[in-house]
Amino acid sequence: MPTSTPTRATPEYVLGTGADEMARLGLQHRLWSAAAHNLWERARVQPGLTVLDLGCGPGHATLDLAQIVGPTGRVIAVDESASFLKQLHDQAVSRKHHNIERVLCDVHDLASALDDDAGMIDVAYARWVFCFLSRPEDVVKALARLVKPGGRVAVQDYFNYERCLTLAPRREAFSKVINAVGASWRARGGDTDIMGRLPGMFIKHGFRVEDLQVVQRLARPGDMMWHWPNSFWQTFLPRLVETGFITPEDRAAFERTWDEAGRDPGAFVQLPPVFELIVERV
Ligand SMILES: C[S@@+](CC[C@H](N)C(=O)[O-])C[C@H]1O[C@@H](n2cnc3c(N)ncnc32)[C@H](O)[C@@H]1O
Repeated sequence: MPTSTPTRATPEYVLGTGADEMARLGLQHRLWSAAAHNLWERARVQPGLTVLDLGCGPGHATLDLAQIVGPTGRVIAVDESASFLKQLHDQAVSRKHHNIERVLCDVHDLASALDDDAGMIDVAYARWVFCFLSRPEDVVKALARLVKPGGRVAVQDYFNYERCLTLAPRREAFSKVINAVGASWRARGGDTDIMGRLPGMFIKHGFRVEDLQVVQRLARPGDMMWHWPNSFWQTFLPRLVETGFITPEDRAAFERTWDEAGRDPGAFVQLPPVFELIVERV
């Protein structure tokens, strides 16, 4: 059983925690794992360290990190989804990783959930989590308590999401849905521009910015990367209709546009840029 503190009655995560989102997160990790490993190397993740994986989801990154820190290190994996943590548990058992601790909690309650680990974390990692949080500064404050002096926090997240995520040639039906995606995240307290505010928040709470970069990828029909946005539409479009952010007609127009683009060798998508931040606890 994971360590557990009460979570909200209505989970905050706007993309849901069902089997479709679990599969999408697996594919997403495959497509972005080279960038993640590069970031971990720059954040000096190594054997023997204690690493916190914040908003770990089903734990694709957690399992890689557990291999890197090895049996003398530990990975604390935190998420508010019991089903995601169960998936992580099953994978950890089958791969015989004994150095993963699962913590079921809302990351806004991180300081109390990990009270015994104050000053013990060497590296905290958060990928695509801060953009979904309504009180990100509370989490930064908690990290300032948990990360030891000289320890690092490595974050991969979004800035300029709606403006950058573009289908070329431009199509109205595409832009309309992208704006609805941003609006649906904001309606739950999230922020598709979160990376614009994070460096300042970390500085305010006792960190020093060590590295800030951006990874900008394109996808063309037939590319492996084309499957990243494709899997996102499959999971999220029905939810956007259900929650009223788009109409069934908007969805149909988008799907026609996407289908046409997929058959057009001249089309491409500018994917949302993924910003990478490494901060050091002073
Ligand atoms: C896009 S997924 C990313 C998962 C993982 N970091 C990865 O990169 O594969 C976002 C994750 O954040 C978790 N999450 C969102 N809001 C949370 C909160 N307030 N407390 C704990 N977990 C949260 C969701 O349950 C989900 O697993």
